[in-house]
Amino acid sequence: MLTLGIESSCDDTAVAVLRGDREVLYDLISSQTARHAEFGGVVPEFAARMHQEAILPLLAAGGIKDGMFRGERLDLIAVTRGPGLMGSLLVGVLTAHALSRAWDVPLIGINHIEGHVFANILAHSELEMPFLSLIVSGGHTEILLVEAPCKYRLLGGTRDDAAGEAFDKAAKLLGLPYPGGPEIDRLAKQGDARAFDFPIPLKNTNVVEFSFSGLKTALLWRVKQLGGGRLPVNDLCASFQRCVVECLINKLELAVRQTGVKRVAASGGVAANGALRDALLSSDKWSAFVPPARYCTDNAAMIAAAGAARHARGFSTPFPFAPDPSLELEAAAV
Ligand code: KG4
Ligand code: ZN
Repeated sequence: MLTLGIESSCDDTAVAVLRGDREVLYDLISSQTARHAEFGGVVPEFAARMHQEAILPLLAAGGIKDGMFRGERLDLIAVTRGPGLMGSLLVGVLTAHALSRAWDVPLIGINHIEGHVFANILAHSELEMPFLSLIVSGGHTEILLVEAPCKYRLLGGTRDDAAGEAFDKAAKLLGLPYPGGPEIDRLAKQGDARAFDFPIPLKNTNVVEFSFSGLKTALLWRVKQLGGGRLPVNDLCASFQRCVVECLINKLELAVRQTGVKRVAASGGVAANGALRDALLSSDKWSAFVPPARYCTDNAAMIAAAGAARHARGFSTPFPFAPDPSLELEAAAV
């Protein structure tokens, strides 16, 4: 069973070919990050145009043509249907429709969040279900209970900014380049994480919910207070990062207490963060799973894996389908 995965929901164009559940045969990503950096963030219209330039060359580079991958017939095409940026999603979804029709290969639409869950299933054959999935990216901060493949319960999410967005905004106000997460991660290594105390939002509430906008404002005030001159950027980065990680770990601990599930898997761009990975992997409250950095950020192998799992369980998406920028993760029955 060969699945072609296509991902274009934000600013990475990605194409992958997967055999069965886990064998990644081809996996290529065309990143637009450097092109958006000069604007300090993703410019949606620009992103859509760059997806359009990248997508056919990515397929060609993999030797994917006429419904075949290097001489072997493709059995399924899986494409990210949402959530994401409308213009970006359109490129992937329309390309996938055209290929599906022209090659007579079935097409399935995948929720991007479900894709991030599958990044862990793909990377860890030993990961048993049920497990808790922490999705932390530029657009999402959610904890899901994964009861079985394709069967999820949303335990909670963010009230305002996503964790990655908080990193990016914090970096911006410290004068650091976009994307801010990796930059804060890097500078925090040379800083004192206890130099500044920022409030840990929703710390003592009994709900699995996050809020990061207050933390960002606290950082802003602290920067103003410190006045002009040279800012202790490394200490500010380390302290801010410690607080974001504490928020995430606190709520994971609550989710473990509420569900009794002691396996935790993290994915999404922020799961590449060194301090978060250390905190997850060193906790004695759970066994932690984090995919390699390549599968934390957006990629098409995870979309192909989710597609193959859905297809194997008899799910399909009525053809044709439109992109849905605010697609909800349905709690599918198995
Ligand atoms: O999953 P992703 O590649 O794209 C989305 O679906 O959003 O996540 C990108 C986000 C950005 O906000 C970026 O700053 C953050 O992930 N990120 C990090 C790190 N690497 C990427 N945040 C903290 N530490 C990192 N090492
Ligand atoms: Zn993502």
